[in-house]
Amino acid sequence: MVVEQQKTEKTLNPTAIGLRPGLEGVPVSQSSICDIDGIKGELTYRGYPIAELAAQSSFLETTYLLIWGELPSTQQLRDFEREVQMHRRVSFRVRDMMKCFPATGHPMDALQSSAASLGLFYSRRAIDDPQYIYDAVVRLIAKIPTMVAAFQLIRKGQDPIQPRDDLAYSANFLYMLTEREPDPLSARIFDRCLILHAEHSLNASTFSARVTASTLTDPYAVIASAVGTLAGPLHGGANEDVIKMLEEIGTPENASSYLNEAISNKRKIMGFGHREYKVKDPRASILQSLAEELFARFGKDNMYEVALALEEAAESHLGKKGIFPNVDFYSGLVYRKLGIPKDLFTPVFAISRVTGWLAHWREQLGANRIFRPSQVYTGEKPRQWKPAEERSST
Ligand code: CMC
Repeated sequence: MVVEQQKTEKTLNPTAIGLRPGLEGVPVSQSSICDIDGIKGELTYRGYPIAELAAQSSFLETTYLLIWGELPSTQQLRDFEREVQMHRRVSFRVRDMMKCFPATGHPMDALQSSAASLGLFYSRRAIDDPQYIYDAVVRLIAKIPTMVAAFQLIRKGQDPIQPRDDLAYSANFLYMLTEREPDPLSARIFDRCLILHAEHSLNASTFSARVTASTLTDPYAVIASAVGTLAGPLHGGANEDVIKMLEEIGTPENASSYLNEAISNKRKIMGFGHREYKVKDPRASILQSLAEELFARFGKDNMYEVALALEEAAESHLGKKGIFPNVDFYSGLVYRKLGIPKDLFTPVFAISRVTGWLAHWREQLGANRIFRPSQVYTGEKPRQWKPAEERSST
């Protein structure tokens, strides 16, 4: 049975009643984690330009920087890498639970459930204890990739494979996913992708993480709520939709007519537009060059030509409105060349973004006040309940 909601709500002009739909431009927290200049197209993590980190740093070093505020010393990095490596395995109970998930389910839903399940194993009673915080950070950074790779093998009817201690973080993930040790170039490019996606201030999933954190619940619930938010097509889910769109366009010659048709039907072009950037997202440019590095080594991808044609066609139509490629436009082309299936693009984004979510979790706990915004009520005035037989059926 489908019950339609009665159309009794009044729609008021949001500006007239002081609303800011989507909280655009409304500051809701102080943060020293990352900064975006959307006009110049600049992004820094703790003051370091993203291009420098993507070229010089590693994902685990960047994680350390984002979460604890400074780049680690050699010893601190070695200790952090070793601890993450020691916690990569997930309990057989989590793996068995994942075997009960439907193989046709989306891997983001599998990840959200598995991340939340970690809260069943680790106590939630110590979120003001620095050791508890450190352990939670290490566990989540270590186990999320293992869970993503495990679901991939489980849904193919195979048993997950165990992490390999001789492989670094990114190489180990690609190994657990594809059952092959990746070549060094692929592992390095994947690691650079993780750096690029690690943090991006108060986007929807990070806001979700901070709202959940503000209730003082456990970090596994914080991450699970953020994973659920990242999954949507207006947010992290766009990377998967970009490749579907490029495949639908098919050839560079079709790009312009596809764009015109989408715009006249008020359909969004996936991988374009950003609330903060009014120019091309700096991460999109770096991802584009990473894709080109992979194509030069392993061969072209025809979808790249389609993407270039679409970007060119969009420049005149959308560029004047400040709509340019965002991080999701070229990332899928990199992941595709690395042999990652389309519906794992967003889980891969989550493997990286867990870093930003955890940094914001810590920051939120440092100066916490529960989030509790207000609303403008537009519903019915108080009225009296009537027995069912006296109600009209409209
Ligand atoms: N294609 C065509 N038109 C667009 C697009 C697009 N991708 N993005 C925005 N517009 C237009 C939109 O139609 C509207 O036009 P008008 O003022 O004439 O009605 C105007 O630009 C403002 O759009 P909006 O949806 O109100 O902007 P927003 O700041 O609320 O949304 C966005 C930002 C990223 C959700 C949006 O640009 C979008 O839906 N993009 C496509 C999905 C996407 O690529 N998402 C990934 C975002 S970046 C990475 C991440 O967060 O994961």
